[in-house]
Amino acid sequence: MKPPHVLVVGATGALGRPVVRLLRERGVPVRALSRHPAQAADLAALGAEVVAGDLTDPASLQRACAGVQRVLASAHGLLGRGRWRSEAVDDAGHRALFAAAKAAGVERLVYTSAHGAAPDHPIDFFRTKHAVEQALAASGLPHVVLRPTAFMEQHVHLFNGKGLLEKGKAQLIGPGSKPRNFVAAGDVAQLAVRALLEDPPPFKVLSIGGHGHHSNTQVAELYAREAGIPARIGRLPAGVARTIAALAAPLHPGMARVLRLSALPDDAYSERFDGAAALERDHGIRLTRIEQFVRERVAESRGRG
Ligand SMILES: NC(=O)c1ccc[n+]([C@@H]2O[C@H](COP(=O)([O-])OP(=O)(O)OC[C@H]3O[C@@H](n4cnc5c(N)ncnc54)[C@H](OP(=O)(O)O)[C@@H]3O)[C@@H](O)[C@H]2O)c1
Repeated sequence: MKPPHVLVVGATGALGRPVVRLLRERGVPVRALSRHPAQAADLAALGAEVVAGDLTDPASLQRACAGVQRVLASAHGLLGRGRWRSEAVDDAGHRALFAAAKAAGVERLVYTSAHGAAPDHPIDFFRTKHAVEQALAASGLPHVVLRPTAFMEQHVHLFNGKGLLEKGKAQLIGPGSKPRNFVAAGDVAQLAVRALLEDPPPFKVLSIGGHGHHSNTQVAELYAREAGIPARIGRLPAGVARTIAALAAPLHPGMARVLRLSALPDDAYSERFDGAAALERDHGIRLTRIEQFVRERVAESRGRG
């Protein structure tokens, strides 16, 4: 049977890229949307049709949805400002995408929400994710919701271990003591592809996380052990982070949001996830262990050094 034509919104992201690769490996026609198509040459090289588009430009979403059967929404504006502030991208932009998909007769939209999304979450981004889930449910568009925990690519590597490997010091915000769950974006991508392609979809709403819990301090220590270097950790005190956030908010609401989020007390909201064993059992996936992920990043950095 002919595979469905899939639009990936957020195709250049940590999740979008492996989704496009997995879809192309299966011979699925993919339209990859980006605000900066020139930065998606690697996706074009995989055979994806790269198109210019922006969640804040409804006409571009109508063009992008024309002729596709399935859509993955895997973009976000957590760090955005100005035209690309979170309200415009994560809220209004996604509502516009759902309307465009519905009008184009899209058969199924897979929405990437976040683990912990809730109407009373202390951070607006997670309240928006919840509100957008509700809007999708009310839209009448057939859909699947993914709720992943923090991606290893960003929260383990980019914001933590990378600094230790490249600058000899990991820079954390706050004490770095909160137990957190992390998942590899590549693992989420495998489940996203199943949600996009299988008929009927194998789940309606799925929380996705990896094994175990680690604090940011423990993550830095894992890198240090693996690389055989001292675990040098800088800590921006939570109070200082909150002050910088308040000053930065008018100019850069996205940066202020991330500072505020990182400076919250450990018990402000939970980042725990205890469903990894059930995910592996029920969905036939082998989840990447954080130790393996760190080992690979350390080996890569040695290869470059
Ligand atoms: N990262 C995490 O820890 C995490 C955890 C839970 C859930 N999620 C969710 O998973 C999804 C994927 O996140 P990610 O970490 O893979 O993203 P990412 O690597 O931070 O990349 C962000 C993506 O969003 C796209 N984007 C941003 N603003 C846009 C706009 N105005 N119009 C169109 N595209 C726009 C970017 O595309 P261009 O720059 O090419 O336009 C890029 O592909 C998001 O929904 C996110 O909220 C992420």
